[in-house]
Amino acid sequence: MKNTLKIMFVMVATIALSTAAWAFHDAGVAECAGCHTMHNSQDGTFVDSVHTTGNDYLLNNGNSSDTCLRCHAAYGQFDGGTGYGAGGDFYWVTKTWSWSAHGHAYASAGDSHGHNIISEVAGIVEDATLGTSPGGSFDSTYLTCTSCHDPHGNTNFRLLYGSALGPIYPGGRYNFTADAPLAKGNSRNTTSGSGIENDVQHTVYKSGMSEWCGNCHANMYSVGNTNHVHPAGEAMGSSIAAVYNAYVSSDDLTGGDALTSYRGLVPFEDVDADLATVSSTNYTAGPESSDQVMCLTCHRAHASPFPDAGRWDFGETFLVEAHPASEAEGATVDDLANMWYNYTLPTNQRSLCNKCHAKDFGDAPF
Ligand code: HEC
Ligand code: HEC
Ligand code: HEC
Ligand code: HEC
Ligand code: HEC
Ligand code: HEC
Repeated sequence: MKNTLKIMFVMVATIALSTAAWAFHDAGVAECAGCHTMHNSQDGTFVDSVHTTGNDYLLNNGNSSDTCLRCHAAYGQFDGGTGYGAGGDFYWVTKTWSWSAHGHAYASAGDSHGHNIISEVAGIVEDATLGTSPGGSFDSTYLTCTSCHDPHGNTNFRLLYGSALGPIYPGGRYNFTADAPLAKGNSRNTTSGSGIENDVQHTVYKSGMSEWCGNCHANMYSVGNTNHVHPAGEAMGSSIAAVYNAYVSSDDLTGGDALTSYRGLVPFEDVDADLATVSSTNYTAGPESSDQVMCLTCHRAHASPFPDAGRWDFGETFLVEAHPASEAEGATVDDLANMWYNYTLPTNQRSLCNKCHAKDFGDAPF
């Protein structure tokens, strides 16, 4: 009896420990030593042996991106393109594709594939073209993981910053006017299991994503904006919602069913979603007219293999011709296998803008 109790106690303690170890941030500030070192010294050796004179903010690994990537690289936020997460794998900003067509040389530059979070470990430097966030003023020199995520945690979706507190920025903090979006996501481990995005398991977006991106890209947020911008954070309306629900692919524009028409590559905000009860691992329904087109309908929040962090290649008519198209363009065999996650697209598939607009009606096959 005593022994059984002892074993049970050990088991409970082990479970408690492993849960504690798994839930690092716990929707708040994690153990300081996970990211900081007070003296860069433990057991008489350096904690960060690369930066022996120490780091800003007493970080235990280079800058803030490096500190996050110590754990998160292997979770798929920087893992050779094998992270199939909603946000996307920052590996893609290190990969440039080049090809020629009609006698011209073309390139899809790595730094155009998403947010260039400065990281020595990952070899990511500032975007060579965009000095600030287009449509806003966030200086690209300071872009790291903690420009968007609060390293000390909060109860927001994905620990994102909101209007109560913005990211650290020279002179204080960058002012965020919009709150963090409302959404429900899956595991942070995007190389396997429920962290992989597909048509059934994926982030369920409710509201506020476009407003949130507008914290740094104000002029690209459409509401109350007179610039030339595609609607974002706006209701789709009944005709567009009906097209979305009917559309299966360029091969089948009308055979869809509203109960199963959700496409992970073309997400929208379900404004009525009850995040307490909705399932982010089994969600297949298409939109109602009040549901919203948003920034992440077309972009990934981190990075993708395509220009402008596109969820698909905006530059090709047929998606089979998306770049990278071959090893000759600078891609590895693995890059070509990873670029579309596990999604399958028919050969005749044209741009996924058609999921809502069906402009491929009556078009010729590939
Ligand atoms: C998940 C990683 C992480 C954890 C855990 C963490 N920090 Fe930090 N901390 C950072 C990063 C990164 C910065 C650098 C500033 C930035 O990038 O926002 C920082 C900066 C700071 C700063 C200076 C700037 C500021 O926000 O005032 C203090 C003080 C600080 N941390 C204290 C703590 C304490 C105390 C704990 C434990 C209770 C802790 N941190 C836990 C990542 C972390
Ligand atoms: C010591 C390892 C470790 C470090 C360092 C670390 N994380 Fe995490 N992170 C985890 C683990 C484990 C989880 C899953 C459990 C949890 O959310 O508490 C996680 C989850 C997350 C999530 C998803 C949270 C959610 O609500 O679903 C985000 C976002 C995140 N981390 C961002 C960061 C950022 C940004 C940094 C750097 C400032 C960082 N992490 C540093 C281990 C780490
Ligand atoms: C903390 C500020 C900040 C937030 C929040 C932010 N961005 Fe950015 N974004 C930037 C900066 C700075 C750049 C330019 C540097 C770069 O591309 O690395 C940029 C560039 C981009 C680019 C162009 C990438 C390229 O290289 O061509 C896209 C697309 C983009 N952001 C979309 C978004 C979307 C969608 C969201 C919301 C999920 C968002 N951004 C949220 C700061 C931000
Ligand atoms: C421009 C803002 C921005 C930056 C920079 C950024 N994130 Fe994120 N991150 C987001 C948003 C928004 C989501 C939610 C994406 C979704 O569900 O579509 C997210 C999702 C995540 C997740 C959940 C899993 C996933 O892939 O969707 C983790 C973990 C995470 N981020 C960690 C990081 C780390 C680590 C870094 C730096 C290496 C980083 N983020 C940089 C905005 C950002
Ligand atoms: C309907 C799809 C769609 C939506 C919705 C959308 N974008 Fe874009 N975005 C694009 C395309 C396509 C491009 C390529 C350039 C262009 O067409 O103007 C682009 C380019 C960008 C760029 C790069 C601009 C540059 O100068 O390099 C940024 C930044 C950006 N989008 C941010 C956003 C933000 C923020 C939102 C939400 C407020 C958003 N986008 C909503 C499709 C979209
Ligand atoms: C999730 C659905 C959705 C997707 C995907 C989508 N759009 Fe739209 N689009 C809308 C909605 C909603 C409107 C506004 C209602 C309308 O004009 O009928 C709109 C309007 C437009 C307009 C008319 C704008 C105006 O001011 O008259 C154009 C052009 C357009 N979209 C192009 C695109 C392109 C190009 C893409 C792909 C890069 C795209 N859309 C992807 C939903 C979508």
